[in-house]
Amino acid sequence: MNIPELHLPTENKEFIKNPYEKMGEFRESTPVFWDEINDLFFFTRYHDVRSIQSTKSFGTTFNHIDGFEESIGNQQIPITSTAYKRSDQFGSYENFWKSEEFSLLNLEGQLHKELRGLVAKAFLPRSVQQLVPFMEQKSEELFNGLQGSEFDMLKDYAQPYSVSIIGKLLGVPESDHLEFLDWSHKIVKMYDFEVTEENANKAEEAAKQFIEYTQDLLNKRRQNPEDDMITRLSQVSEDNNYLTDDQIICTVILLLNAGHEATVNTLGNGLHALLTLGKSFEEIKNEADEINDVVEELIRFDSPLQFFQRYALEDIEIGGHDIKKGSKVAILLGSANRDPRAFEEPDTINFKREMKDHSSWGGGIHFCIGTHLAKLELGVSFNHILEKEFKLIEEPSRTGAFGIRGFKNLLVSV
Ligand code: HEM
Repeated sequence: MNIPELHLPTENKEFIKNPYEKMGEFRESTPVFWDEINDLFFFTRYHDVRSIQSTKSFGTTFNHIDGFEESIGNQQIPITSTAYKRSDQFGSYENFWKSEEFSLLNLEGQLHKELRGLVAKAFLPRSVQQLVPFMEQKSEELFNGLQGSEFDMLKDYAQPYSVSIIGKLLGVPESDHLEFLDWSHKIVKMYDFEVTEENANKAEEAAKQFIEYTQDLLNKRRQNPEDDMITRLSQVSEDNNYLTDDQIICTVILLLNAGHEATVNTLGNGLHALLTLGKSFEEIKNEADEINDVVEELIRFDSPLQFFQRYALEDIEIGGHDIKKGSKVAILLGSANRDPRAFEEPDTINFKREMKDHSSWGGGIHFCIGTHLAKLELGVSFNHILEKEFKLIEEPSRTGAFGIRGFKNLLVSV
């Protein structure tokens, strides 16, 4: 069976506003399509997306397999995994690459296993749980300061809230959080389909400053250890193997970027969904047995991360089609989460939904390491949100990006 050729119109504003209708059309017409413009095979259905997330037949890179390029006889494949890392276009962005070199997201095989094992040792469930009173206090403090005024939910609440939590966990002084946020915003712009040269230059400069800052902080913690994650990353070991400075720096940058963008956008996408649901917050509270049901359903309904890329590491049949070793594929998480084959009435928000195994946390070896933290953080926020009376001041606009799905701002009053 031939794989149909279609185009995911990520450059179209109407599509970005509501990608689910078009993705639904594609999903119902085919489990996989070839998009020549984006140079990718897109998988649309839940079952295939979950398989690709969890099987070792696909990887974010093939660098861990000796002779991979020779064995497929294709020298055109870029050396790294994702579209934004087109080596031809952005190869000279030295600091950006340095900041990505040991990112868990880009690693496979033994190195990923070892690095993730050490990071997990430093990412103690106890230290995450201990942050709950801080989350409560921070959320309350921010909302109290905003009471009675019109404000931007993203800039005035979600960003300072989320960055203060990951900053506290890592051990970054509060006075530096704004700078952290700015670097992070600039770096994550590299993770979408379209990257302008201006944004790439900004990301490169941000990565340079971020690396210097983190190295300095790491040096300080090596001299004067504290009860924070940067100190723990410098101390954890397995069979006498420790993380190197470069590995710690990449991990800190990854944790900050991964740890706050998706959380901020979940707060924005989620609050907007709640405000346009046509139900009072009182009704919503009564419907949901626990706050985690609200968190999971909102993440499923409007996922803050919409796609990830992988390489086929061997010839494989998936979705009834043969995919050749070396092919670049993309999984559409938002489409999988609205697949009627997996979710009953998928376009409806249902806080009593039993099926919670959506694709937004990833799966397999790259399963989100921060899920526990994110759920607690979002749970505290949505609990506070549902206690209040919110008003949407104006219909917000989307950022324009497809991969990282969020609003430019979200003007509300409380
Ligand atoms: C709503 C919030 C979040 C969502 C939806 C989310 C989603 C994801 C997804 C889908 C992946 C897998 C990527 C892939 O398959 O290539 C991932 C990986 C990851 N996430 Fe999260 N995440 C969230 C919050 C966090 C937080 C709070 C942290 C940490 C502070 C974090 C740290 C990471 C890291 C380090 C990885 C890479 C794991 C690996 O490759 O081994 N995330 N996340």
